[in-house]
Amino acid sequence: MARISIIGAGNVGGMAALRILGEKIADVVLVDTAENLALAKACDLQDARGALGFDYSISAGSDFSLISGSDIVIITAGLARKPGMKREDLLNKNAEIIESVAKEINKYADKAICIVVSNPVDVMTRYFLSVFNADRFRAFGMGMNLDASRFANLIAKKLKISPNKIKAVVLGAHGENMLPLPRLTLVEGKPLTSLLSKDEIEELVKQTVSRGAYIVNLYACGSAYFAPSAALLAMARAILNNSQETIGASVYLNGEYGIRDVCIGVPVILGSGGIKEIVNLQLTKDELYTLQTSADSLKSNFNLIACN
Ligand code: 2OP
Repeated sequence: MARISIIGAGNVGGMAALRILGEKIADVVLVDTAENLALAKACDLQDARGALGFDYSISAGSDFSLISGSDIVIITAGLARKPGMKREDLLNKNAEIIESVAKEINKYADKAICIVVSNPVDVMTRYFLSVFNADRFRAFGMGMNLDASRFANLIAKKLKISPNKIKAVVLGAHGENMLPLPRLTLVEGKPLTSLLSKDEIEELVKQTVSRGAYIVNLYACGSAYFAPSAALLAMARAILNNSQETIGASVYLNGEYGIRDVCIGVPVILGSGGIKEIVNLQLTKDELYTLQTSADSLKSNFNLIACN
């Protein structure tokens, strides 16, 4: 059975564990410096096996040696936003955590595929890659497929149809500078731009960009975790099943889209071993300019990291 280790037993980590175990695609290891939190969630998930008729295995603790032999390591460790905060406000604190986690993964699971969730995820992924000894196809961030799922949901509610009929495309930063692409978003094969007016689309784009903050404000004590953990499951499943499907991820670009030395959300083909290929969408001049501008702001945020 494959093994997936989750660093950080908070809401996203715990829910990701539940989803992965529920799909029976891997055993799970839950690691957190708050050892009792990790142990509590593991016991609780183990107790569910009888009711579910499942026999999955989950172990937990604060000792990173538990992650040895992991096929995938998901990094959710770090602070979550509070109401009124931007993801970028978490930069330095979460960079410190990412650095220490990356060093532990180097020690115990240096062959794993790593998925970074900690925010601001594009900058945290770039920073993780500067410490973790792996190429850019084996360590990437989860954010864009979450934004695409949100965009699809909001479109579905507007059109009163199932989100399964929608192929939503979002590029760029997982943050204020994300770039939902109505022109490439398809509803039953038809471009969204042929079904809704410019104003209606603009409103959906605005709601998508602010969806994370909207939920943070409603919770008042944390951020979303049902959709982020579902987005993580989609990535883990694609990797373990070698599905070769196209999923949005925060990837280190080395000239693709005219962008270098930054991690940013673009579509990739995911399969065994991680990223098989970076998909090069044909963008308009304006779309490309917006994406490159978004990359520039991620680069300046990366340079703000004190421990750089
Ligand atoms: C979100 O957008 C946590 O960044 C994540 O909800």
